[in-house]
Amino acid sequence: MSLYKNNSGYSKIAKLFHWGFVLLFVYGVAKQVDDINQLEDAAFIRFEIIFSLIFLFLLITRLIYMKTTQKSSLPKDTPRVQKMSAKIVHNGMYAFLAGTVLSGLLIGYLFWFGFQNSLMMNIVITLHELFINLLYLLIGIHIFAATFHRLKKDGVWSSMVPIFKENKK
Ligand code: HEM
Ligand code: HEM
Repeated sequence: MSLYKNNSGYSKIAKLFHWGFVLLFVYGVAKQVDDINQLEDAAFIRFEIIFSLIFLFLLITRLIYMKTTQKSSLPKDTPRVQKMSAKIVHNGMYAFLAGTVLSGLLIGYLFWFGFQNSLMMNIVITLHELFINLLYLLIGIHIFAATFHRLKKDGVWSSMVPIFKENKK
């Protein structure tokens, strides 16, 4: 039942993906590479790459699952611009999550193959930092929007967030 497209809430799997990714992302940022020289350590770089490959695989699985089975909880009468904005922010977060992990992987492979000090490496690191910072911006807007919906009590917050739920009418 919960696997059908609907407007009345997300399935358990959708919530697991959403909140599981918040944890995975916070972990990824917390253990971020502070200095490129850390990659000299073979065990460290191997771990980074394996973590990122798993992250990428789960991200693609999540994207396919969400796009084929779930729908935004925005009420039907939501203005077009607002629906579009939500779509842009949601898709943008997927794009920058993918951009961060793909550029990270590219850094890893460039390092592995001996391009530590190349122009290419500098460009990819700059992109990696740009993607993560744009992602922070979108996550900030996303949380702001979620809070706005909670105050509006239109059901969007409670469809995804397990705490501070609105009272059911
Ligand atoms: C790393 C942080 C986060 C990311 C990357 C993220 C990403 C997303 C994405 C991509 C969606 C669209 C549905 C999907 O494809 O899964 C979504 C939906 C949602 N998220 Fe987040 N989220 C984050 C954190 C949060 C937090 C902290 C909250 C609440 C305080 C929140 C509240 C919601 C709500 C209410 C929806 C449903 C929106 C709708 O139905 O249109 N998210 N999130
Ligand atoms: C999901 C995966 C990843 C996340 C979430 C992530 C996150 C981050 C963050 C938050 C920063 C700091 C950016 C800033 O200061 O603005 C960073 C920098 C960096 N990351 Fe990643 N990263 C990931 C994957 C990787 C991988 C796979 C590698 C390479 C093996 C990598 C190599 C680096 C390097 C070299 C820097 C720059 C350090 C410096 O400024 O010298 N990252 N990453």
